[in-house]
Amino acid sequence: MDSQGASQELSHEPGHEYGPVAKLLHWTTVAFVAVVWALGTFGDELPRGSVRDTGLLAHMWIGLVILLIAAVRIPWRMANPPPKVTPTEFGRWLIEWTDPVSRVMHYALYALLIAVPICGIALQFAKGHALPIFGLVEIPSPWLADKAFAHTVKEAHEILANVLLALAAFHMAAAVVHHVVFGDDTLRRMLPHLRNVQGEPR
Ligand code: HEM
Ligand code: HEM
Repeated sequence: MDSQGASQELSHEPGHEYGPVAKLLHWTTVAFVAVVWALGTFGDELPRGSVRDTGLLAHMWIGLVILLIAAVRIPWRMANPPPKVTPTEFGRWLIEWTDPVSRVMHYALYALLIAVPICGIALQFAKGHALPIFGLVEIPSPWLADKAFAHTVKEAHEILANVLLALAAFHMAAAVVHHVVFGDDTLRRMLPHLRNVQGEPR
């Protein structure tokens, strides 16, 4: 059997793919980040009034869900180490030097999944507005409205959100390169179902 075939066989053994909880948390986060970023970036294009207000409310609620998911995901990840990649012969040398890079990338993504929503909360407070929690309660701002401070926090929130998107795009490109160019199981082990060579679900 060639080395790629061997890696596909191995990837079907238990412990060679992310578990269902890790996959669910990863892909839910991806979908929510895309929606929240689009609402933040293009929210000003919505018609003024109730439509725009609802857009901002959805932005804040989904942003808070992203923060909650990260708060669950980080301890979960510490208790459940990720499955090892099974490198192909071709990609074996590559994994040695890309592994530390991908680790730093994952730390940076986790840090931003916490920092961006916290900055968003600070922005809401800097405007002197209460923080709405899923229509249940509102946490009043501990600060008086401060236009200059709100402007600075808004810039920081925007820059961090854009850095998150840029790193996520690089991270996605790296996963696709592993799959298409190096033919290893880096991407397959994070997909909802591992598939065998014939494309049948496991
Ligand atoms: C990963 C989560 C989040 C991302 C990617 C994100 C992204 C963005 C972006 C790109 C903007 C536009 C900034 C600008 O035009 O200057 C924005 C605005 C804003 N975000 Fe977030 N955000 C997130 C979470 C949150 C959270 C949790 C809150 C508060 C609870 C929040 C509150 C706000 C507010 C108040 C604005 C300003 C809206 C305005 O004044 O028009 N964000 N966000
Ligand atoms: C907002 C977008 C994204 C964020 C925030 C994100 C975040 C993360 C994080 C933090 C990990 C590390 C998991 C661990 O602790 O082991 C991870 C792993 C992974 N992600 Fe993403 N991701 C995003 C988008 C994507 C996309 C679009 C793809 C698909 C092409 C993807 C594919 C993967 C794969 C294959 C892994 C496992 C990689 C490995 O172990 O080296 N991610 N992601």
